Amino acid sequence: MKQSIKTTKTPDVKSQKGEGGFYSDTVKEHFFHPHNFMVDEAGYKADGQGMVGSPACGDVMRVWIKVDPKTKKITDCRWKTFGCASAIAATSMMSDMVIEKGGLTLEKARQIRPQDIMERLGGLPARKIHCSVLGDKALRAAINDYYRKTGQVDKIEIEQGRIIDKVLKITDHDIEEAVLEGADTLEKVQAKTKVGTGDPACIPEVEQLIRFYKEKYCETK
Ligand code: FES
Repeated sequence: MKQSIKTTKTPDVKSQKGEGGFYSDTVKEHFFHPHNFMVDEAGYKADGQGMVGSPACGDVMRVWIKVDPKTKKITDCRWKTFGCASAIAATSMMSDMVIEKGGLTLEKARQIRPQDIMERLGGLPARKIHCSVLGDKALRAAINDYYRKTGQVDKIEIEQGRIIDKVLKITDHDIEEAVLEGADTLEKVQAKTKVGTGDPACIPEVEQLIRFYKEKYCETK
């Protein structure tokens, strides 16, 4: 469903240019005409809802889902954010991906990753990539909420990181977040996380992870 919305920020998409280039036509289309935006929050009977905040910018994303209990497919997905154009476009696209062709099962929807969304959007400027993770994170929180409300607690998945720096207890997720926030060298990741300062033996693995996450998120065309 297409709906024009008013955001708290003045849209000026044409003038926004990131390190990765201008916004694609698909991004602009989804930003100016967001799909599945939550309008009537009070009147909406959600089966699950999730909310996440971005550590990079402080913006917040909320996602609501309706689920067919028989097929376990998501029949409706709504969202709302005070985030930027990239967050709006990415979540609008994600909401389409979740309900298109009769809807994804909860387990399939849980596997949607930012790179899948970015591929469908035709890429995002590198410095805006962190905005694209909000929608799918909030969706996974909504799926967990559905499982919680329906008593299927064994299906709840809490995202845990693998500890890389054993002294400072820094995980691969912390490094992933740092790369998403624009840290593309060991020095920049260390400035954000201090990884390796207490446990220098982990540095080669940290460098490998930085290369992996850069390839995963920052080299999407
Ligand atoms: S800058 Fe906050 S969501 Fe994009």
